[in-house]
Amino acid sequence: MGSHPNILVFDSGLGGLTVLREVVKLRPDARYVYVGDDAFFPYGQKSEEAVIGRVVPLIGELIAEHAPDLVVIACNTASTMTLAPLRARYAVPFVGTVPAIKPACAASRTKRVSVLGTSGTVRLEYTRALIRDFAGGCDVNLVGSVHLAALAEAALGGADVPDEAIRAEIAPCFVAGDGADDRTDSIVLACTHYPLLLDRLVRLAPWPVDWIDPAPAIARRVATLLGAGSGHGDAPGVRMVFTSGRLHRLTTTISPYLGGHISA
Ligand code: DGL
Repeated sequence: MGSHPNILVFDSGLGGLTVLREVVKLRPDARYVYVGDDAFFPYGQKSEEAVIGRVVPLIGELIAEHAPDLVVIACNTASTMTLAPLRARYAVPFVGTVPAIKPACAASRTKRVSVLGTSGTVRLEYTRALIRDFAGGCDVNLVGSVHLAALAEAALGGADVPDEAIRAEIAPCFVAGDGADDRTDSIVLACTHYPLLLDRLVRLAPWPVDWIDPAPAIARRVATLLGAGSGHGDAPGVRMVFTSGRLHRLTTTISPYLGGHISA
């Protein structure tokens, strides 16, 4: 590995930016290629077979083209469906993004936790096994959202997304029991698109909750695998690639998000 490791960050669209920004904070000296498979978006509405059939060969092509030292699958849907076949097929290290059920349940005081993900992620046995293994006595409410990832894409693209559309997607996460304190206190953001809307999620919540975003933990994992960086001030930047072939029009929106390190 050279002094500037090559990191490939992959998502179905723009959601992986919420992971990329945390990784860039810890390794500003690395070279980044961000790939959004927007030609196949949304993954959350596709079958597991379809996502595996799409992502496994595509990642092979991207590895051949970009020779990354490490690949971050910055998408819960893709990670829960494809991490096992990817690791079986390719030698490069992979860091995935899977629902942060364990830390959320460990931290919940009311023992009521909701997991907000794509319908693809929440119906998977992988996710259900995480609950069986790590719920630790919590009542875990799985909420599959059909539209929230697309709403996040639209909002980042400058569209006017009404509060009501977001409120309807998050409403099933808020569960109240009989007692005053017997209600959901933690919501796992199990789709990398959702933190793009965090300000609005906080504002539209019927009561305050902890929104659990695993991106900082994912970034720490990347930093651990890559070892010590070469310091700040020599950032080679981020290259953005979209499988639709569209010339990405969001450079000015995304650039401040990533500390200015961008070449579209
Ligand atoms: N960003 C993806 C995830 O974390 C989901 C978006 C999609 O449905 O493609 O699950």
